[in-house]
Amino acid sequence: MSDSKAQLARLEINGRKCEFPVLTGSEGEQSVDIRRLRKETGLTTFDPGFVNTASCQSAITYLDGEKGILRYRGYPVEELIKICNFIDVAYLLIHGVLPNEQVRNDFARLLNRHSMIHESMRTFFDHFPENAHPMAILSAMVVSLSSFYPEMESDQEGVDMAATRLLSKIRTIAAFSYKKSIGEPVVQPSYKLSYCENFLNMMFASPVANYKLDPVVVRALDQLLILHADHEQNCSTSAVRLIGSSGANLYASVSAGICALWGPAHGGANQGVIQMLERLQAEGGDAKKIIDRAKDPNANFRLMGFGHRVYKTYDPRARIAKQLCEEVLGKLGINEPLLDLAMKLEQAALSDEYFIERNLYPNVDFYTGIIFRAMGIPTDMFTVMFAIGRLPGWIANWLEWMSDPAQKIGRPRQLYVGPKKQKVPPRKQGGF
Ligand code: SDX
Repeated sequence: MSDSKAQLARLEINGRKCEFPVLTGSEGEQSVDIRRLRKETGLTTFDPGFVNTASCQSAITYLDGEKGILRYRGYPVEELIKICNFIDVAYLLIHGVLPNEQVRNDFARLLNRHSMIHESMRTFFDHFPENAHPMAILSAMVVSLSSFYPEMESDQEGVDMAATRLLSKIRTIAAFSYKKSIGEPVVQPSYKLSYCENFLNMMFASPVANYKLDPVVVRALDQLLILHADHEQNCSTSAVRLIGSSGANLYASVSAGICALWGPAHGGANQGVIQMLERLQAEGGDAKKIIDRAKDPNANFRLMGFGHRVYKTYDPRARIAKQLCEEVLGKLGINEPLLDLAMKLEQAALSDEYFIERNLYPNVDFYTGIIFRAMGIPTDMFTVMFAIGRLPGWIANWLEWMSDPAQKIGRPRQLYVGPKKQKVPPRKQGGF
């Protein structure tokens, strides 16, 4: 990370000159190390949304927003998605190395062994309203795991076990929330099935109808989860790190990450894209109408699935998802008008000055919802799918934070612009 011949950044303010070391990452990115700034100058930096702020050093994921590069532990996502499965990638993100055959099989067996949830937790589902959003259920159930598995407080082995439990049980919780919403009995996980097969079977099998696992759907789900597995210091990952920085356990930190992901500006956008496309379809498919609304600063409307804080070119995941979309729908023989509309919308946006000027391109959420829909996953569970995919990334970042000697509790400052000191006016006593 920082080289011995560190460059220096110079700041001159209020007649004072200060120098700050410039840190250089393994891909040549540079950061001004301002850890002494307030002590030396009394100043803080002002950076709403942390657009210009590196919150940590990380060895997990590398993004290049200008070139559209995404690598997990140095491996390009385009290669991982062809050669590996989601369990390989989850292991890679968390442990830093790709598992060999033996390690992968042991990991898969461990995940299967921990795929059930405690019977008392299953009863929680009896008390959520039928229309409860599955992200609310997911967050509540994940934080409740800390009551059933308190070993988190112990040693590294306890943490590894908690990570494995979480990776496995998140599927069960998600599938049970779906069964609850349609009034069907839950289907328990099976040790005979793979990670994605188990999830699909718990979602769609029922006591009166066998669910035939389609290898096309299973592999597509596996690849979609890889696409979502990690993405540097995005909003929900930063939330997981911030909550963990207070000493909160992994379950509590991930539960907060789930809530952050739920927002329509973040992971909730995949649900927003389908709702936007359905509206476009209902309005006769006039893409220009949606584009014009998205450009109107007073319309309080964003083109869902478009734009990105880091990517100023096509999101590499969106490119893969678009191909996957055409492949999966083709193999399943599904003619999805929303896909045609999405492509029409993309074409209209990418040739519009407003989008070109602002480097607004499709992001990971633009096409993924269409594939989830083709799998029979309900729209309000799309962000749950994003959370299942992102979980290994959240766990890896939480663990990295825990083992980083330079880290301390996250506590940003502010620029106070409120009233100056004023006296409390006299008041009639009583009324307490
Ligand atoms: C994810 O960070 C990550 O890595 C996230 C993620 C991950 O894997 O974790 O990649 C997942 O969250 C993807 C993003 C999903 N969200 C959406 O698709 C919602 C729509 N997109 C936007 O809300 C927006 O693009 C963000 C939130 C994604 C990024 O917002 P920024 O970086 O804060 O950009 P901005 O709001 O400063 O916008 C810059 C300009 C503004 O116009 P001007 O004020 O300059 O005139 O671009 C405009 C914005 O109005 N703009 C859009 C737009 N996105 C930005 N205008 C219309 N439609 C959009 N989608």
